[in-house]
Amino acid sequence: MQKPVEWILLLCVFRVVTAFPLQDQRVVLMEKEDSRRVGGNILLTEIEAEANKNLMKIKESEMNQSLATGIFPPSMHFFKARSLIKQSQVFNVIRHMPKGGTLHLHDFAILSVNWLVKNASYLPECYICFTNDGRVRFLYSKPAPVGRLAPGCSEWLLLEAYRKKLGDVTEFDNSLIHNLTLLTDTPELDYPSQDFIWHRFEGAFISVFDLVSYAPVFKAYIYEGLKELYEDNIQYVELRAMLPQVYDLNGTTYDRPWVVAAYKDVTRQFIKDHPDFMGLKIIYTVHRSQGVSQVKEAISMAIRLMSEFPETFAGFDLVGQENAGHSLNQLRDALNIPKQMGITLPYFFHAGETSWQGMDVDQNVLDALLLNTSRIGHGYALIKHPVAREMSLNMNVPLEICPVSNQVLMLVSDLRNHPAAALLADGHPLVISSDDPSIFGSQGVSYDFYEVFMGIGGLKADLRTLKQLAMNSINYSSLTTEGKKKLTEIWQKKWDKFIEDLAKGNCGNQK
Ligand SMILES: *[C@@H]1O[C@H](CO)[C@@H](O)[C@H](O)[C@H]1NC(C)=O
Ligand SMILES: *[C@@H]1O[C@H](CO)[C@@H](O)[C@H](O)[C@H]1NC(C)=O
Ligand SMILES: *[C@@H]1O[C@H](CO)[C@@H](O)[C@H](O)[C@H]1NC(C)=O
Ligand SMILES: *[C@@H]1O[C@H](CO)[C@@H](O)[C@H](O)[C@H]1NC(C)=O
Ligand SMILES: *[C@@H]1O[C@H](CO)[C@@H](O)[C@H](O)[C@H]1NC(C)=O
Ligand SMILES: *[C@@H]1O[C@H](CO)[C@@H](O)[C@H](O)[C@H]1NC(C)=O
Ligand SMILES: [Zn+2]
Repeated sequence: MQKPVEWILLLCVFRVVTAFPLQDQRVVLMEKEDSRRVGGNILLTEIEAEANKNLMKIKESEMNQSLATGIFPPSMHFFKARSLIKQSQVFNVIRHMPKGGTLHLHDFAILSVNWLVKNASYLPECYICFTNDGRVRFLYSKPAPVGRLAPGCSEWLLLEAYRKKLGDVTEFDNSLIHNLTLLTDTPELDYPSQDFIWHRFEGAFISVFDLVSYAPVFKAYIYEGLKELYEDNIQYVELRAMLPQVYDLNGTTYDRPWVVAAYKDVTRQFIKDHPDFMGLKIIYTVHRSQGVSQVKEAISMAIRLMSEFPETFAGFDLVGQENAGHSLNQLRDALNIPKQMGITLPYFFHAGETSWQGMDVDQNVLDALLLNTSRIGHGYALIKHPVAREMSLNMNVPLEICPVSNQVLMLVSDLRNHPAAALLADGHPLVISSDDPSIFGSQGVSYDFYEVFMGIGGLKADLRTLKQLAMNSINYSSLTTEGKKKLTEIWQKKWDKFIEDLAKGNCGNQK
């Protein structure tokens, strides 16, 4: 039974609504829904309104075309949609749009693997071995490696010599690209289950890590990775990084603080070369297969890194297939340590990256919020948890939505059915990210923005939604108030230029 006051209010609303003719009521309802959407409260400037008109014309015409042909990229598997998206004018506009920060990316999946194969694997000290389960491992060594075989390997072959003996080097290089990504023309056949694709996914990560863990390559990878993100009009990055050991040829190995320092130094150099880039922060991550005692060690490492690198270090998270690893609740004795010590270690938990309901894995969204997470990675299961959804709203904890990742990793096939559609329609705090673009054959964050704008937002999501999402990425970043102000300035300048171009109607065409 509702309270009498609510009944009276309801009656009043009903009376007001029924006082108008039906068509007017319909307009009122539609406007009400429109204002609920992410960005629905933004008032566009005159020139932004002009730009929006042009954008919506392009969007509508592409939607119309999809209705006529039955071909709608967000409803197709990304591996098949990719080439269609590349030709889309909406995508071209989105490529040009300054996107602010990209807050959910993983360390070794930010740079197209082409560079790893064509550049890193061509270094004269690169060795390869073929594992008995059809994969490749790499090692840099000089002289030849002895007694250091990777699991499943029988011998290290000098890649330079191996390539010389091959008939078709391009075909071989393509097979390496295949090892380092999940790309295939027939995803439905090649990936029969989530467990299967996660196995391939983590395998790809291991091979990529082999290629980047040599110190000179590691630093070049960070620089080239930042460049690729920068070229996608991203101004700031928060990277989930496992900070594994890096080595030099003389046997020297480098620990986590060295690795964080390398990120810091390379980023500083990058900013020097590109003053309109804001920077990068690290969210230290460990694999969730680790037990309580290992996670306890990781937490103390995180606390140490936080005090040694206050400007670069942002916080802590756990990675890996969520239902295969430990739940947050199982790890609570480790995760509660900072609080018990009176230390604030910001958390950025992946939580609820699952289609299941009622299991430990989707309940992670509740535990993440209980542990005072600053953002939720994916939060795919959030809409099935009304209390967690309210908490996320009231605590102003955004979800990091990564549509391409969710589709490739088999949570959803048609992105119109992504649960974020409901959240976006209801103005829930969201940021858009790309998780592991290089492994999904994607780049930067534009493809994910396209999927959100066309598939998840529907026809009526407009420039206001895109602007709000970009602003959210600044607002929900780990930057200090000063940092956010500076990033906003950088972004606003680019935004104004973008709007000017779009209003002139020449943004969708230029490359
Ligand atoms: C899209 O189709 C609708 C309905 O046929 C039409 O009114 C509209 O003008 C079309 N828009 C564009 C941009 O082609
Ligand atoms: C490999 O990458 C490095 C660092 O980015 C660059 O200096 C070099 O020119 C590249 N080499 C080739 C062959 O592309
Ligand atoms: C990895 O590369 C090897 C060597 O070319 C190839 O035989 C194998 O099929 C590739 N595996 C995958 C999973 O792409
Ligand atoms: C090993 O190589 C690195 C990079 O060239 C160098 O900085 C370091 O001093 C070397 N260490 C030793 C013990 O030779
Ligand atoms: C929650 O986390 C934020 C950001 O890390 C921090 O400022 C705040 O003090 C934390 N609150 C509690 C109750 O731990
Ligand atoms: C930024 O977040 C604060 C709350 O943390 C909110 O009040 C404000 O409206 C947000 N600003 C934008 C531009 O989203
Ligand atoms: Zn992730």
